[in-house]
Amino acid sequence: DVMREVLGLKDLEAAIKQKLHIEKAIVVAGDSDLSPWVKKEMGRACVTCMKKRLKNGDIVAVTGGTTMAAVAEMMTPDAKLNDLLFVPARGGLGENVENQANTICAKMAEKALGNYRLLHVPDHLSREAYESLIEEPAVKEMLELIKSCRMVVHGIGDAITMAERRKTRKEDMEKIKARHAVAEAFGYYFNEKGEVVHKVKTVGIQLEDLPHVEHVIAVAGGASKAKAIQAYMKRAPHSILITDEGAAKALLGE
Ligand code: F6P
Repeated sequence: DVMREVLGLKDLEAAIKQKLHIEKAIVVAGDSDLSPWVKKEMGRACVTCMKKRLKNGDIVAVTGGTTMAAVAEMMTPDAKLNDLLFVPARGGLGENVENQANTICAKMAEKALGNYRLLHVPDHLSREAYESLIEEPAVKEMLELIKSCRMVVHGIGDAITMAERRKTRKEDMEKIKARHAVAEAFGYYFNEKGEVVHKVKTVGIQLEDLPHVEHVIAVAGGASKAKAIQAYMKRAPHSILITDEGAAKALLGE
């Protein structure tokens, strides 16, 4: 049956680009839902993609999650890149220490033989606390650094999976479900159309900042994330997507 012909990775990349209306997609073999090493392969592909675009003096902002942890794990030094600064993209989003942006940022910098700066802000800030925190000179300086990044590398998650993993409070959980959120990235929750339906309030990169960042790389795979990837990428036509065969095939309805 011709329709069931197995698609090669390059064909999948082309098909994904067309389906999602994005400029670049990289697909690695396997499904990270089923095989843990596939996340590392996405990590390896992401590191290659980063190195091709980075130059000395660049600031790289990263988010948290297990996929980004795999990117950090696969990072290696580069003889031509000896002056990189890694920063977390946003403040706390309710992840465990090993999945936090700060942890991943420090690890990635260490592996790349680069420098890093961390951002220490608590999760779930009240409006007053938030307003005064962003006026603190040390925080202000850090936020300026983050906003001047030339590259953002981030994960994408399934909305409900992420809301549960973050132990989201009941009211917000109900809102996320009632508004049919399917995707999450940067603390923003999106519906199928890519519209923001909920947002975790924290400092750092905001969605509006992304169009001004030269290189944005999204890393997410596994068939279970197909819907999330499709929804989020509607917001990010200029981002590079690094994914796996599992997500790509699910996205294409194979
Ligand atoms: O919480 C940080 C974050 O990058 C989220 O924005 C994203 O949804 C999630 O992690 C992805 O996590 P994982 O790679 O573990 O699926």
